[in-house]
Amino acid sequence: MRAFVKPAPLPPSAPASLAGTSPRQGNDVSPSGPAPRSRRIIAVGGGKGGIGKSMVSANLGVALAQAGHKVLLVDADLGGANLHTCLGVGPPESTLSDFLRRGKASLEEVMVSTGVPGLSLIAGAQDSLDAANLKYAQKQKLLRTLLSQTTADYLILDLGAGTSFNTLDFFLIADHGLLVVLPEPTSVENAYRFVKAAFFRMLQQTEARYGIQDLVEGALSTREGGLRTLHDVVAQVRRKAPSDAERLERELAAFRVRLVVNQARTDADEKVGAAMVSAWKKFFGIDMDDLGALRYDDEAWRAVRKRKPVLLERPDSLVSQGLQRIAARLVSLDGPSPESAIP
Ligand SMILES: Nc1ncnc2c1ncn2[C@@H]1O[C@H](COP(=O)(O)OP(=O)(O)O)[C@@H](O)[C@H]1O
Ligand SMILES: [Mg+2]
Repeated sequence: MRAFVKPAPLPPSAPASLAGTSPRQGNDVSPSGPAPRSRRIIAVGGGKGGIGKSMVSANLGVALAQAGHKVLLVDADLGGANLHTCLGVGPPESTLSDFLRRGKASLEEVMVSTGVPGLSLIAGAQDSLDAANLKYAQKQKLLRTLLSQTTADYLILDLGAGTSFNTLDFFLIADHGLLVVLPEPTSVENAYRFVKAAFFRMLQQTEARYGIQDLVEGALSTREGGLRTLHDVVAQVRRKAPSDAERLERELAAFRVRLVVNQARTDADEKVGAAMVSAWKKFFGIDMDDLGALRYDDEAWRAVRKRKPVLLERPDSLVSQGLQRIAARLVSLDGPSPESAIP
């Protein structure tokens, strides 16, 4: 496995909207301290398409809503929106596109109901608004609006495949960045690429926020001299500016990916998540959490063909049990709710 290698700069042919998200011009939106207990953002990403991101998003939405939480699902797969179909919602009357392009002021105006009590949906754009076309100002508007949402307990963002800055930026605003991976070398490879890209995107945003680009860039460029882990980057910065290093360390420690291995067929497959967690710790010094595996289950694809979430269609199936466990783990990671703290 290779040490951190900086992602190649964007090719000159890169769309202007992506070029516009260079480190200095990147997000000026970031989670401002711990979110109130009443609102958590879960982003569901992964390097590849067809690995179950939408299946996981839709069913986690159902599981959390069934547990009594108010949930808003957002189809943020800007190029291939189909979350409404996973939920059995017909062609949506309003979509994210109406919010971004037609001057709708609030997300409430474009929400549609899913038929599941407590679960609303913002359907994805059905037009040509894809990841590359999302303009910088539109992205900032959406990020800001998502971060300031207080009407739902959980916002779940179903992301598209790939590692475009737009996708990474939605992943990085989440309290829980869920990374879906299949227990196959190609998927694991894409997952690593996704985490690496997200890590560097976050590093860029952090260094821009604190004005320490030169320090961090300097530290990264000395990797041939043994620089490898997150700690190496911080240690290098610390030699020159101890207080900047402290800030950097604090911000980077918040970068914590939660793994979901999907379509596990064997016991060995179920251990892939744990193996990925220890490999990342060892090679890059980054902590990840293994949320558990979901079994490959014919009920999962059968439910999609019926346009129903498997949790509603086959609540006792293996995959549904796994989804319930993952939902419960996510809730427990958030700690006790304020109500339960009242004696
Ligand atoms: N655990 C599973 N067992 C069996 N089939 C699955 C499972 N998870 C997903 N699938 C199948 O994979 C397909 C793609 O899933 P989807 O959620 O649309 O992927 P993505 O959003 O990552 O592109 C689903 O339509 C379903 O048929
Ligand atoms: Mg999808």
